Amino acid sequence: MRLGKYFERLAHGRERHKRVGNLSNQYWVSGEGDCIMNTVYDHYDGKKALVTGGAGSIGSNLTKALADSGAQVIVLDNLSSSERWNVPSSPHVLFVEANIVDEVALKRVFFEKPDVVYHLAAFFANQNSVDHPEHDLEVNGLGTLRLLQYASLAGVERFVYASSGCSIYGSDAPLPLREEFMSMHLSTPYQITKMVGELYCNFFSNHYGLKVVKPRFFNSYGPGEIPGQYRNVIPNFIFWALKGLPLPITGSGEETRDFTFVGDIVDGLLRAGYMESAVGQEFNLASGSETKIIDLANMINRATGNSAGVRYVSRRKWDTKSRLLASIDRARDCIGYDPKISFEEGLELTIQWFQQNWERIEDAARFAPGASAAVREVAGTRIEAESSGDR
Ligand SMILES: NC(=O)c1ccc[n+]([C@@H]2O[C@H](COP(=O)([O-])OP(=O)(O)OC[C@H]3O[C@@H](n4cnc5c(N)ncnc54)[C@H](O)[C@@H]3O)[C@@H](O)[C@H]2O)c1
Repeated sequence: MRLGKYFERLAHGRERHKRVGNLSNQYWVSGEGDCIMNTVYDHYDGKKALVTGGAGSIGSNLTKALADSGAQVIVLDNLSSSERWNVPSSPHVLFVEANIVDEVALKRVFFEKPDVVYHLAAFFANQNSVDHPEHDLEVNGLGTLRLLQYASLAGVERFVYASSGCSIYGSDAPLPLREEFMSMHLSTPYQITKMVGELYCNFFSNHYGLKVVKPRFFNSYGPGEIPGQYRNVIPNFIFWALKGLPLPITGSGEETRDFTFVGDIVDGLLRAGYMESAVGQEFNLASGSETKIIDLANMINRATGNSAGVRYVSRRKWDTKSRLLASIDRARDCIGYDPKISFEEGLELTIQWFQQNWERIEDAARFAPGASAAVREVAGTRIEAESSGDR
């Protein structure tokens, strides 16, 4: 599939679902096919949606899909880990550059009377939270609490919280990871505050009757994620491969992750913001299959023609998960979630996005030497990576 087609589908999802009969190549549609997705898209027509973190890798894709459904989208983002050019430009999108903790900004965006809130803004991610734990608590803890307070006071129809399946199950859960499992042994401040966000959602649901949904994402990747010091393994590997550098593997390379294409996550989010069956629920949004990091590195090197190979560096202390694999049974039952994009196809789309946006990606990618022990030497450049790709 060409990248242009991906964005065309993202941008014209509703119309295309109505027009195109062949479901086999419509990865944007999942579950029972276009009847359900047409209803979902129709639901957003004329609604107002607040997307915090709407300039980010998942939020920008969600914003595009919502805007095309006819929703008026208010994006609240301080661009701390994203770029202005990544926010979809559309008359349906109002961009407010501000911090989610800032109450003036919250008053500004809730003045627009959103019907649904997608809370995706977060201080990103594990290594960053180890380096800056107080800032992590402020944004992911206090920021989420404030969003919930304003959403509750404003009487929004739905509050969708971006939770993290890579975080909240800890390292000792049986695979595949199921929603019932709980862990008190989380290994980074980010993992703790993503869990806190879910707990606050439960409080607002129980105490104030706010209709919350808590999808738990796993290792999202795809067009829209800019590489950088604290970013995920896939964009960083692609970036280094396109520069002809060896790909740094933190660990043995036998570690696995459940990589999920961003379009499938957006599909789940649109359902989560609409379907009654989702209310009060937490469910995994994942691919339901695992990929070894060494296989990922080899695939990216092959696809980009990078002959520099891989380089092994030591594992970070907090990086305690050797395998990640999610069950998607509950999301399937609850909202008809059914991821459509194969890993090969998703990687191809992501590489195409890199190639088409190379100059601005190269300009935006930041790999400054950090204070943490995870800073590594790669081909003469000091870089640091979230190489296991967990958020
Ligand atoms: N990407 C993944 O694999 C993954 C996995 C599990 C959970 N999640 C969760 O999904 C959400 C979105 O992830 P993403 O990959 O799009 O992240 P991202 O970093 O690409 O996007 C987050 C956005 O939030 C913005 N932001 C950060 N702090 C802010 C603040 N104080 N005020 C306003 N805006 C702020 C950033 O500028 C960025 O645009 C996050 O909540 C994350 O915890 C992501």
